[in-house]
Amino acid sequence: MTNLLVAQHLNKTLATTPPRTLLHDINLTANAGEFLSIVGPSGSGKTTLLRCLSGLDSLTSGNVWLDQEALTTMKPAKLAKLRRTTVSFIFQQYNLLPALTVYDNLVLPLRLAKRPVDQNQLNQLLAQVHLTAKLNQYPNTLSGGEQQKVAIARALLVNTRLIFADEPTGALDAQSRQMVFNNLKALTTVGTCVVMVTHDLELAAQTDCAIVLKDGRITTIFDHPTMAQLVPALADHWEVASC
Ligand SMILES: Nc1ncnc2c1ncn2[C@@H]1O[C@H](COP(=O)(O)OP(=O)(O)O)[C@@H](O)[C@H]1O
Ligand SMILES: [Mg+2]
Repeated sequence: MTNLLVAQHLNKTLATTPPRTLLHDINLTANAGEFLSIVGPSGSGKTTLLRCLSGLDSLTSGNVWLDQEALTTMKPAKLAKLRRTTVSFIFQQYNLLPALTVYDNLVLPLRLAKRPVDQNQLNQLLAQVHLTAKLNQYPNTLSGGEQQKVAIARALLVNTRLIFADEPTGALDAQSRQMVFNNLKALTTVGTCVVMVTHDLELAAQTDCAIVLKDGRITTIFDHPTMAQLVPALADHWEVASC
């Protein structure tokens, strides 16, 4: 199996006074076709970890390999290319461009990568999330859930080998949540690797591996996690596990 993602001794420290370490000695691997979930209380560093793993944020020490390429020694142009071709990121705050319509938001990453739009795939994705009629609307005319679905469809259209998803189902109802999850899961069957931050333990329990993060450290890794394992692992933090 090919390791699409490797992190070794990843540390992230902010240069504040005093310095603040957000991630401590993170080690993990993910293979092609694997679905990883990252769970943990709010403020435990999940978003920071996803950003460091995907090349959006720099590391303080350690290294990350994306598709066998080391991020720390990579030239900026190469990193930019890798981020257009190999990696998609579904942001917690959607990151839709307000001045662009739904359609233009959807095809933007493909346009930036000078790649053609697969209209069939686009139509299929839109129909699944009931957004076909809203293609010409602007993001601020959509509900939070609809914006989240556009952000997810935008990431899926790029067909990258690695997808990082930060709470991709947070704004969705239970039915949409499972459907979005099923979409991501289906991609893993054709070799895509998905790394998803979630507070939804029912979804985490359907992934191949769940990584529990607390105070910037991996406390447990569950292979083939079950609810019976995940619930007690997060039990102390229910009251703060809200964003
Ligand atoms: N750029 C930053 N400057 C200062 N503090 C930050 C920055 N990024 C993250 N943090 C802090 O780091 C901690 C982890 O944040 P985050 O990764 O967003 O956690 P999570 O996604 O698990 O809620 C939080 O306490 C947050 O306030
Ligand atoms: Mg977060």
